[in-house]
Amino acid sequence: MSDTEIHKGLAGVVVDYTAVSKVNPETNSLLYRGYPVQELAANCTFEEVAYLLWHGDLPDAAQLAAFHELERSQRGLDANVRRAIDDLPLAAHPMDVLRTAVSIIGANDPDASVATPESNLSKSIRLLAKIPAIVAYDQRRRRGQDLVAPRDDLGYSANFLNMTFGEVPSDVVVKAFDVSMILYAEHSFNASTFTARVVTSTLSDLYSAVVAGIGALKGPLHGGANEAVMHVFDEIGTADAADAWLDEALTEKRKIMGFGHRVYKNGDSRVPTMKAALDTLVEEFDAQDLLALYDALETAMEARKPIKPNLDYPSGPAYRLIGYDTEMFTPLFVASRVTGWTAHIMEQLASNSLIRPLSEYDGPAERHLPVRSL
Ligand code: SDX
Repeated sequence: MSDTEIHKGLAGVVVDYTAVSKVNPETNSLLYRGYPVQELAANCTFEEVAYLLWHGDLPDAAQLAAFHELERSQRGLDANVRRAIDDLPLAAHPMDVLRTAVSIIGANDPDASVATPESNLSKSIRLLAKIPAIVAYDQRRRRGQDLVAPRDDLGYSANFLNMTFGEVPSDVVVKAFDVSMILYAEHSFNASTFTARVVTSTLSDLYSAVVAGIGALKGPLHGGANEAVMHVFDEIGTADAADAWLDEALTEKRKIMGFGHRVYKNGDSRVPTMKAALDTLVEEFDAQDLLALYDALETAMEARKPIKPNLDYPSGPAYRLIGYDTEMFTPLFVASRVTGWTAHIMEQLASNSLIRPLSEYDGPAERHLPVRSL
């Protein structure tokens, strides 16, 4: 074996600069364009945070009004996208439905390959506006329910929830959902964002980079964990079964979904804010049993492994209480992270270099075919 140092999984490897966000495990903090994410969650809407990620500053009143108008005017589910979704089996995973729908939006955009900042910004807003309609319709069709049209008198989260459930829920639910969108929006060079940057580095188009990001986010080691957390909760059932379940799972060397993080080693900076949002939903829906299970599994894990919850741990139960089907949780992550992905796509293009790492060969030594008689 050669003495070349291999950085498996690129763990700990710094590959580029970014001005979009700063993940700081030492101080357990996360800044979006310099603002602590906790302050943004408490004082801003997801629309304002999307604007911040794309433009580098929060919008003033006039800029926000113009942004609202642009986003709200594009919320409808295009007929060709709806037909394509209807042609997909209900057994298709919602992440595959969403990936397909984004591909169709891209294939129908005559400017798909135009890579100017203005063109990519308008594609980004288009996806921000249209993904909720795709996710909401996909859940409703699985329940045999009709499409609910978007309303341009509602904010992003209230409209998303209204399209999903046919009514605007309480302010508590809308706020908790909006907080989750803000917390999921951006996280530097995570696997799906780096995937989007790799695709962008070849000068492929924004839609191709977003579709690739969706593919990467689907995995249970990454975005798919918020869905997997709820499958774990459903497997455990009640709080008093958490200890025994965890002992068996760890004996089987299973990765416990919603716990651990490649960068944060003393806890995910976003968890306290999302847990506080979950607590408001527990009170709103009187879901003490769910909270007891949440606490029991966290306590059981703490007693066995120094591995702390990540954002997916509180967000899964929150989406369950809000009423989303479990398989819809990661598409909700996409609805938010499309803002971070597209901010990084535009940043990558601004000072691009083809992303092409090296590998160390450890296959068969050079050998040759026997001479064949013709
Ligand atoms: C997200 O990168 C980002 O920023 C991602 C994200 C974002 O906003 O984009 O934050 C979103 O993806 C959060 C992570 C969601 N994934 C999960 O919840 C899945 C469960 N978590 C693990 O798969 C794991 O913690 C990772 C993949 C998230 C991180 O793993 P690392 O840093 O690569 O660490 P590792 O897998 O090398 O594990 C180190 C040790 C191992 O033990 P040993 O083999 O050395 O004895 O810790 C153990 C692991 O087995 N371990 C776990 C564990 N996580 C790590 N053991 C049980 N359960 C876990 N969850």
